[in-house]
Amino acid sequence: MAEAENFYQNFFASLVDGVLVISADLRVTKVNQAAEEIFQRSRSSFEGESLSKLFPDQPNLIDKARQSITTGASYHHVEGIGYNKSTNGRFPVNLTFSPFMKGDHKNTAGIILIQDTSLLKELQENSQQTENLSTLSILTTGMAHEIRNPLSGIRGSAQLLLKELKNNDHRKYMEIVIEEVDRINRLIKKMINLTHPILNDFKPTNIHEVLEEIITLEKETLKKKEGTFVQIYDPSIPTIKANKDELKQVFLNLVKNAVEASSKGGRVQISTQYNNNYTFREKQNTLSQHNIVIKITDYGLGMDNSTMKKLFTPFFSTKKRGTGLGMAVSLKIIENHNGTIKVTSEKNIGTVIQVFLPIHK
Ligand SMILES: Nc1ncnc2c1ncn2[C@@H]1O[C@H](COP(=O)(O)OP(=O)(O)O)[C@@H](O)[C@H]1O
Ligand SMILES: [Mg+2]
Repeated sequence: MAEAENFYQNFFASLVDGVLVISADLRVTKVNQAAEEIFQRSRSSFEGESLSKLFPDQPNLIDKARQSITTGASYHHVEGIGYNKSTNGRFPVNLTFSPFMKGDHKNTAGIILIQDTSLLKELQENSQQTENLSTLSILTTGMAHEIRNPLSGIRGSAQLLLKELKNNDHRKYMEIVIEEVDRINRLIKKMINLTHPILNDFKPTNIHEVLEEIITLEKETLKKKEGTFVQIYDPSIPTIKANKDELKQVFLNLVKNAVEASSKGGRVQISTQYNNNYTFREKQNTLSQHNIVIKITDYGLGMDNSTMKKLFTPFFSTKKRGTGLGMAVSLKIIENHNGTIKVTSEKNIGTVIQVFLPIHK
């Protein structure tokens, strides 16, 4: 008997899906570990909690739970929104309602199986982004080299001409030709970077060193806006296996964007933190138990929803002289490091960019 009890206990705890056992008055009587993780709250805080607090403002869903207990019916694939009390956040879920058959065959309780579908939703969005990149890849690999060759001819001739020119105005025009050719060249280089598979040349990298180098580069630009960098580094962060040049490119892109978005006197905060977030672990499907997060916060322009949606799309830019490649390239590099980028932003308030990178022990 004790053995059977033990078996069920283990079974309950091992389920990947969250399980809630609810009483006839729709209050929680039992939860498993997966449910604790999905809602990010402890077992004891669930006890006696009413179902409508876990799934607020969804009378349809509550009704199904009640029906299942009173009539013995079950309902599958019910979509709902769960509420995370600790972060005040909401997440999409897929629910199954079943009556809880007790020995006496009187249905006085119900069971709810919960699948957190945020991962699925995120993957769907990500595959959209990947699709954008592969279309681009076909286009650019063919075009990039073809464009570069005549460009170097134009640049060489312009430089020769510049040497011959005496008239200052004429010289200025020729200098513009060279400058603009260089700009196209840089753009093409970025495109090639974006579409070529990046070699995994990973070495132990000190992330704070990377950040400090970027800050040194961008300090002057921010100073011109009377702004300052604020660094909050977690000294316990170990080195991570990474390609330092690529990470520099990522953080240069992100810090540049933050500086460009900042208004006069704006502060740009860069913080690092050792992170033990299991949701990240699950989403990335890596074995890594530990991650670091680098957070770049600005208090500038911010983004509305439509800008946020296109943020990672190659060539999307709201800037006069923007390439629209910074975010696309950054995402590609970070994903190649098995990491991820999270963005939260509010128009005219500011933007927080979080870069998660795994630590391989
Ligand atoms: N920190 C930020 N604050 C506000 N908007 C941003 C920020 N970062 C990126 N964006 C928006 O995303 C767009 C794309 O960024 P990016 O890919 O770096 O290209 P670019 O900087 O060349 O425009 C920007 O044009 C801007 O509209
Ligand atoms: Mg940019």
